Amino acid sequence: MNHELLYPDLAVNDAGWLTIAGFDTAALAQEFGTPLMLLNEEKIRARCRVYAQTLQTHFPPGSMALYASKALSFKHIYEIAAQEGLGVDVVSPGELYTAYRAGFPMERVYFHGNNKSDEDIAFAISHRVGCIVCDNLDELSAIDVQAGTAGITQDILLRLTPGIDPHTHAKISTGQIDSKFGAAIETGQAEALLCKALSLKNVKVCGVHCHIGSQIFDFTPFCDALTLMLRFLSAMKEKHGYEAERLNLGGGMGVPYVAGDPSIDYAANLLTIAKQLDEQCRAHALTPPALLLEPGRSLVADAGVTLYTVGGVKKIPGFKNYVSVDGGMSDNPRYTLYQSEYTVYLASRMNDVANFRCTVAGRCCESGDLLQEDVLLPEPRRGDLLAVLTTGAYNYSMASNYNRIPRPAVVMLTGEGAKTAVRRESLDDLILNDL
Ligand code: LLP
Repeated sequence: MNHELLYPDLAVNDAGWLTIAGFDTAALAQEFGTPLMLLNEEKIRARCRVYAQTLQTHFPPGSMALYASKALSFKHIYEIAAQEGLGVDVVSPGELYTAYRAGFPMERVYFHGNNKSDEDIAFAISHRVGCIVCDNLDELSAIDVQAGTAGITQDILLRLTPGIDPHTHAKISTGQIDSKFGAAIETGQAEALLCKALSLKNVKVCGVHCHIGSQIFDFTPFCDALTLMLRFLSAMKEKHGYEAERLNLGGGMGVPYVAGDPSIDYAANLLTIAKQLDEQCRAHALTPPALLLEPGRSLVADAGVTLYTVGGVKKIPGFKNYVSVDGGMSDNPRYTLYQSEYTVYLASRMNDVANFRCTVAGRCCESGDLLQEDVLLPEPRRGDLLAVLTTGAYNYSMASNYNRIPRPAVVMLTGEGAKTAVRRESLDDLILNDL
């Protein structure tokens, strides 16, 4: 092996195969087939604990991490979140129902989305969801009506846009006010939403929410968001006597995908927030609200590895080399969608020299179905095993059946062995709803 592996749970065994959390990828591919989504369960749990414990120890009572389950949603992941003391963020009745069927405590569920139908809201209320994150005025009235019909007072948060673009480092960016999500502070729409909510009988406004973006390495934008949200709350206290019990700053902390990406000290970042929350609340004479965060990617991304079998290599003289694998955009659309960078290894020959420059292509009938370009690998052969790292977040949850390709199995690597959490889709699964 001539280069350092990206994560400490990866190693190379005597046979030259990649291992993950001590599991031999050759044996896993043999037992479960490919493409195969692997998750190091202990790594997920450990990251959950960093968030849960830091929020519990250093923040006002009631502070909590809510797992943003859009990153990866299936029953067992909700069991893990529940056991580790997290709440969850769900964005659809589908995610909500999966959490419910996993036995997740519904009072710790926050229901998101920029367009919840009356049926969605009624569904959430009938499942006794803890909190609905209200996106806009239309939805606010709908929540009030549905809660009234159910004879309850529904806890809500209001989704606001503080106007921060985390990727331009600008403190205020009008670009971010132009968003399909939430109500902008700067335009006065956030205040209007709050005033309307406070006038309604069947909702209780527990606080406010914002989410500034995803895969953010720089921590300054989170601090800026905190500042703007507290400034808003201070103004609302002064003008309307409103005090928020909860402040939700959303998700977004980054994860290293390739060598050279910064690694993040999540606990240290959280402690910075804790300090600023305390200082700024003092300055504004606000009672510090419970702080909620919604990490998705940073809980699951780097715990995931996808294994593929190489079908063949095509060398186009004067152009490039294509290595085709048995999955692709159907299980990981992120390169196709965002040109996302990934680290790719030839898992079956980790000790061979990686001097073959190639493009890793998926199996879909679509030229853009690529997993990564310009990768250096030992020259692959048909039957070799290829590993794409950091696939835990926004891969399986964004997978599709394009070309009627079945979704892979999801296997948890645990102290008690490798366990299937989601079985591989069969061809019969694909025609299940066809009449
Ligand atoms: N909370 C809210 C309201 C969100 O919209 C999101 C992500 C999160 C929390 C979690 O953010 P995270 O901690 O995972 O960054 N499909 C894209 C990512 C979309 C993220 C959408 N919202 C990707 O594959 O990169």
